Amino acid sequence: MTQKRKTIVITGASRGIGAALVNAYAAQGDEVIAVARSRPKTSWPNVQPLAADLATDAGIARLAEVVAARSQGIDTLINNAGIQNQITLTEPVDPATIDAEIALNLSSPIKLTLALMPFLHTPGSTVVNVTSLVALHPKPSAPVYSATKAGLASFTRALRHQMSGKGITVVEAIPPLVATDMTAGRGRGKLTPEDMAAAIVAGVAAGATRVAPGKSKLVLRLNRLLPGLVAGILARE
Ligand SMILES: NC(=O)c1ccc[n+]([C@@H]2O[C@H](COP(=O)([O-])OP(=O)(O)OC[C@H]3O[C@@H](n4cnc5c(N)ncnc54)[C@H](OP(=O)(O)O)[C@@H]3O)[C@@H](O)[C@H]2O)c1
Repeated sequence: MTQKRKTIVITGASRGIGAALVNAYAAQGDEVIAVARSRPKTSWPNVQPLAADLATDAGIARLAEVVAARSQGIDTLINNAGIQNQITLTEPVDPATIDAEIALNLSSPIKLTLALMPFLHTPGSTVVNVTSLVALHPKPSAPVYSATKAGLASFTRALRHQMSGKGITVVEAIPPLVATDMTAGRGRGKLTPEDMAAAIVAGVAAGATRVAPGKSKLVLRLNRLLPGLVAGILARE
């Protein structure tokens, strides 16, 4: 029996984990809408690239228009786009930098989920929010990033409660350190973006509500027993 082609919306799709997700879904024959500020480059005929700044309401509205125009609805929304700023709180910080980080990492997945809700198939669709281990305990050098990821993890749980019984699965994807532009020059033993993407694809297919591959699984387990130790480890990341 041939599997039905699904429609997947992936944000932050021009590089890193997002680009690897685009390739993984496209390779299995799904239809992908791939979004980033810079139009994602692709040679897959089943990928529709879109340039949209999701830190703005106009960018979110543009993506919603594109989804509405396709008329077949969507099976999976992956809120993956994110930025991480290193901020020293004892030095002057441009408020626009703070606003932009909160807008993309926290406001945009919330607004996008609401904007695309009418197009999510029920039952059977999935919303994936990509958070971070720093949602558990902050990384002091990235205080706004950590706050946005803790906020997104909380929103993910609230969304899951509201979607229970409606046929929409809500997934929290928690990457360990992954070798992308975001982590360039730091960390060792990083997961490849392809392995992170494969874990998300497999988790969504299996109906999982949490995807935490590699060291993330270990850290989450350790955090249940020794949260103080994990807080100290994450503070050094
Ligand atoms: N890498 C890790 O170790 C790690 C660990 C934990 C969690 N995460 C999370 O995983 C997700 C992906 O991270 P990554 O490492 O793959 O990051 P990345 O390589 O830096 O890629 C970020 C993606 O987001 C897009 N983006 C940035 N600003 C945008 C905007 N305003 N509107 C639309 N798209 C925008 C970028 O494209 P443009 O610049 O063209 O817009 C790019 O495609 C993020 O949410 C990150 O917080 C990553």
